[in-house]
Amino acid sequence: MDKPLQLIKKARNIKRNAYQPYSNYSVGAVILTDSGKKYKGVNVENITLDMCSHAERTAIKSAITDGHTNFDCLAISTESENGEPPCLTCRQYLVEFCSDSFIIYSDAGDDNYNTYKLGEIAPLAFRPETVQNEDSSNF
Ligand code: THU
Ligand code: ZN
Repeated sequence: MDKPLQLIKKARNIKRNAYQPYSNYSVGAVILTDSGKKYKGVNVENITLDMCSHAERTAIKSAITDGHTNFDCLAISTESENGEPPCLTCRQYLVEFCSDSFIIYSDAGDDNYNTYKLGEIAPLAFRPETVQNEDSSNF
């Protein structure tokens, strides 16, 4: 099995652990670090409805917690299996750590998946470099 499909199937598997009583929409995400480690995330909702954690950000935060900030690619699997990309907020979250060439694979059912480049789905994003100057070096 090729690498993207392996990651997609992992994301598809963990999707069952999503906590989504309000939307009934499950998302699973697996992010691969430069060093080859995989970190998982699912969406976790809350009755307040404004505190829903997205699968992608859950996965990245888990990797960062373990000391990783360099990433190879991300795979996601959602309820619809239409192969859609992460939401705009998650894209911005990825921009913080990943370059334009970062690849996102999205489950399109069976052995199918869509491939997106971060630079293509997050054009003109607000980048950390924008505020990197001498005054902000201690940020
Ligand atoms: N969701 C994600 O986990 N990632 C996205 O980028 C899109 C939306 C979740 C949030 C919510 O729990 C459910 O999907 C429906 O929006
Ligand atoms: Zn999102």
